[in-house]
Amino acid sequence: MATLIDGKTQARELRDAVAGEVQRLTHTQDVVPGLAVILVGEDPASQVYVRRKGQHAREVGMRSVEHTLSASTPQRELLALIAELNADPGVHGILVQLPLPTHIDPEAVIHAIDPAKDVDGFHPLNVGSLAAGGKGLAPCTPLGCVRLLASHLGELAGRHAVILGRSRIVGRPLASLLLREDCTVTVAHSRTVNLAKVCRQADILVAAVGQPGLVQGDWVKAGATVIDVGITRLGDGEERRLVGDVDAASVSRVAGALTPVPGGVGPMTIACLLHNTLIAACRQHG
Ligand code: GUN
Repeated sequence: MATLIDGKTQARELRDAVAGEVQRLTHTQDVVPGLAVILVGEDPASQVYVRRKGQHAREVGMRSVEHTLSASTPQRELLALIAELNADPGVHGILVQLPLPTHIDPEAVIHAIDPAKDVDGFHPLNVGSLAAGGKGLAPCTPLGCVRLLASHLGELAGRHAVILGRSRIVGRPLASLLLREDCTVTVAHSRTVNLAKVCRQADILVAAVGQPGLVQGDWVKAGATVIDVGITRLGDGEERRLVGDVDAASVSRVAGALTPVPGGVGPMTIACLLHNTLIAACRQHG
């Protein structure tokens, strides 16, 4: 049976390390890293994520500012708030929770965030820096995936990584990060011919498409490391559960290691957000 890669424990360890650095920064430079999180509307899943981000930021000793705006907030009001936060020296990281209501253009919002405070790594300047192999702020979920892989496998160089999904939040930036680790990278997606065959070539298989149970045991090479990024909410009330893109029952009989859902990539994402905020604060005061 595949080893389960414990994201919960690793996220706690990363948060502890960040907390130590926050304390050092606070005492030696009188700088308290500040994270501003903006939520527009009342999407229940987004509300949970935003609350958790604020909670964890405070737990590691950061200043957390949460702005909740109504779903009908005009785009110019959101842009004005971002401009205010850009100019606030006590705010080092700004995150606008996605998705946004349909009357707001996410591109305009992402462009408005100061790239130095863009802890999501979505601003084109940071996207470009990452694609060029540079050191701009990188998106949190792919950073979490790389940390989990490195903790389990050690050296990643030379391994063939197949990424299922080409989203801006996960697939594309993860491809850049794994290239930086000297992996051989294949990005597969909905138009890829013979997906199962491509996946079977992977030493590292990352599923990030949001299709419950898409990856079956016969898609996986024996001993491969499988990272399940997909989180889909199924059912209601007592029956409610989170399911990943990987069919854990069949895949765990073939893979060498697998991240669980929940408790795998999810907790790492927030820990990496805190780490990005710390990096942003250090750079702004360096
Ligand atoms: N919605 C789902 N994932 C993310 C993320 O990583 N950042 C933001 N801002 N919104 C999200």
